[in-house]
Amino acid sequence: MKVMVIGKGGREHAMVRALSLSPSVEAVWALPGNPGMDKATCISGSPADHQAVIKQCQALKMDLVIIGPEDPLADGLADSLREAGLLVFGPDKRASQLEASKIAAKLFMDRYNVPTAAFEKVTTVDEVKKVVSQFTPPFVLKADGLAAGKGVFICKTEEELFEKASDIFEKKTLGASGDEAILEQFQPGYELSYFILTNGSDYVSLPMAQDHKKLGENDEGPNTGGMGTVAPMNIDESLHEQILKQVVEPTVMGLKEEGFIYRGVLFIGLMMTDNGPQVLEYNIRFGDPETQVLLPLLDGDWGQAFKAIADGKVPKLSWKDQSAACVVLAAENYPGTPVKGAVINGDPLAQTDSSYFLHAGTALDGDRWVTAGGRVMNAIGLGHDLTQALEKSYQQLEKASWSGIQYRKDIGKKATEN
Ligand code: GLY
Repeated sequence: MKVMVIGKGGREHAMVRALSLSPSVEAVWALPGNPGMDKATCISGSPADHQAVIKQCQALKMDLVIIGPEDPLADGLADSLREAGLLVFGPDKRASQLEASKIAAKLFMDRYNVPTAAFEKVTTVDEVKKVVSQFTPPFVLKADGLAAGKGVFICKTEEELFEKASDIFEKKTLGASGDEAILEQFQPGYELSYFILTNGSDYVSLPMAQDHKKLGENDEGPNTGGMGTVAPMNIDESLHEQILKQVVEPTVMGLKEEGFIYRGVLFIGLMMTDNGPQVLEYNIRFGDPETQVLLPLLDGDWGQAFKAIADGKVPKLSWKDQSAACVVLAAENYPGTPVKGAVINGDPLAQTDSSYFLHAGTALDGDRWVTAGGRVMNAIGLGHDLTQALEKSYQQLEKASWSGIQYRKDIGKKATEN
């Protein structure tokens, strides 16, 4: 089978790698891909140009197209490709509203009794001032639209909240994504990333993963797209049952009731609280960097699994008795404007049997590797348990570096301690 991966980040590199190791897959392409994807043929082009993507996929006789990021899904790329007769892993545009609009997601959760924090829709600073007394600090303000991980603000005081509201509503720091927002009750607990592969009426769960969203150690500093992940996260069977009964099953029932064409992955961001699991957000795609630690754990063929879902079937999956860790290596000044063009020293293609790099924001300048994005590379480690996987990952990251490199030294610390 020939497979096209749409996207260019670390998540898509993880997909390319997993597909290249799948016996069912004869060759992998990526559009646009990145220069670290040595197992794929990368094709330049923009996922926003649907007709061009269709033309490329048809000319290359693709058997399957996998759409990685949320933007092309929210823009209806899956719909366009399906209309052109291509087999696609990824939900339709209507379903993508579950991620593309935080308000639409909250209303969906209300309709299907999915547990989530209380919220109010807000569109001006005055509206925020009017409803703020319904909430207790810290205050959570979430921009309605897609904001590449930069649309959630946790504010300790009312002053800080009003300032953030003014930034998004008046100064338009997030553009149209911040035209509307929700003010949400903060809920203490710990976060889990829960994934299902679904055909829109049935599902199969993946192992749970844990992300580290803050830039700094001990969860300090600004929010990022994710600085590192570990999997699997093992929780009590009774707690898992609760997640399935209270969150996953009503959600999948909702996908069916709404009549979505949902053939893809649903990533449910959970806050595990004293009142049970609460949904923080839905994402209509794989997580980045969660994918990097989930895909290596399958004891099977990812090509077959993705194709089954695209065909409307739900595959049976089994998992290795292994753990995986990912440490994100970021550019200087990330998550602000990252410094691009810094020379990457060492060997960005270095790998062993149990560790390797995935590329997210690298470029080739002649024969030199340079930084070209915020999250530059991921150091992946695999092991018989989490401690060993983390050890491999931290050994791997020593093999490449650049001026101003940033990474967290405490990825997986909480998970290994508990
Ligand atoms: N790692 C968080 C995300 O992919 O949204």
